[in-house]
Amino acid sequence: METFAFLIHPLDIDDIAKKYKIAKRVSPKVVGQVVRRRPSFVVSEIEGIQSKTGVKAKGWFIAVPLLPWQFTKLEEEYVVEKLAKACKVAKKEGAKIVGLGAFTAIAGGGGKALSEIVDIPVTTGNTYTTTTAIQGTMQAAKEMDIDPSQATLAVVGATGSIGQACAKVMAPDFIKTIIVGRDKDRLNELKDNISVFGEEGIEASTSVEDAVGKADVIVTVTGATGSVIKPGSIKSGAIICDVARPRDVSRKVSVERDDVLVIDGSIVKAPGDVSFNFDFGPPPGMCEGCVGETIILALERRYENYTIGKNITVDKVKEMEMLAEKHGFTLAGLRRHEQLITISEIDKIKSKIKEGKKR
Ligand SMILES: NC(=O)c1ccc[n+]([C@@H]2O[C@H](COP(=O)([O-])OP(=O)(O)OC[C@H]3O[C@@H](n4cnc5c(N)ncnc54)[C@H](OP(=O)(O)O)[C@@H]3O)[C@@H](O)[C@H]2O)c1
Repeated sequence: METFAFLIHPLDIDDIAKKYKIAKRVSPKVVGQVVRRRPSFVVSEIEGIQSKTGVKAKGWFIAVPLLPWQFTKLEEEYVVEKLAKACKVAKKEGAKIVGLGAFTAIAGGGGKALSEIVDIPVTTGNTYTTTTAIQGTMQAAKEMDIDPSQATLAVVGATGSIGQACAKVMAPDFIKTIIVGRDKDRLNELKDNISVFGEEGIEASTSVEDAVGKADVIVTVTGATGSVIKPGSIKSGAIICDVARPRDVSRKVSVERDDVLVIDGSIVKAPGDVSFNFDFGPPPGMCEGCVGETIILALERRYENYTIGKNITVDKVKEMEMLAEKHGFTLAGLRRHEQLITISEIDKIKSKIKEGKKR
């Protein structure tokens, strides 16, 4: 039996109030002070994972009692030490690799500092997140009858870790790619590292508005704390894959733009009769790409630091695609705000696009 653990943490005060009602009656500062004194603990045992190859795995969700703002405001050394203690809990349970969820994947240079002080391999899971974002986007393009070889792609947040990998993998399939970021020098450096046909095949832009006004397919993956894509500027008929958390696409887009398809990044179905035994967001038996990567590495017996730091490589994105297929992970359909997008919803969007063209 192969084994793994995955670190999670409360996302807000509501999460804590599910167990301790008093959390809602005292100030967030007091809740934070109390929470951070608690040791990490096992939340649930993950059972029933069985690869297509027959290999079985089990794992544990381990809670790190820190709130999102504490991961960025508290001293890095303190946070990394807290994560190391959670890794000890994981190892004591029998885990052979630890995946880093949500803000635990950001602390200490994306798992780098942690990997240097623990005696168990760690991974952020961001490689498979990238793989699934690309797969979801290409599937959505197909459903919307968009032919990439005739379409323009925009990657918003392209200078980031996930963004640069998406741009490098996807650009060769599109007639034109617009990479969008805030730093011109870093954009130009990236531009030189993307293979496309001819000069016109790639454009660097610092204007999100301008890029989304031209693109048929958009992958958005910035680290912005508020929305960066508003309803007004999007091209009619576009699809947008919103990988960012918090989301990049304003909620208003779904309300005001019935001629645009917005999908979530990365939910997958794990192989076997899987019970996570804890409600962490996705429907039963499904998980985010980062959890998926940790399970895949365990099933593959690749007990090594896999995705660490900011460098997600094209080779690894492709390797994860191959390993996911080998072990029986599949995309959990196209989703928006965790809900499945039905064929009839896609048909409605398509007919709105046609109506718009007639006008
Ligand atoms: N859905 C999932 O399962 C999942 C998994 C992992 C990560 N994520 C999310 O993916 C996003 C990116 O992660 P990452 O690891 O690639 O981050 P990253 O390496 O820090 O890259 C962030 C990118 O966003 C840009 N950016 C930051 N603030 C911005 C703003 N206000 N406006 C426009 N651009 C901005 C940065 O540009 P500069 O170079 O100018 O700073 C950079 O290009 C995050 O939201 C993260 O939470 C989601």
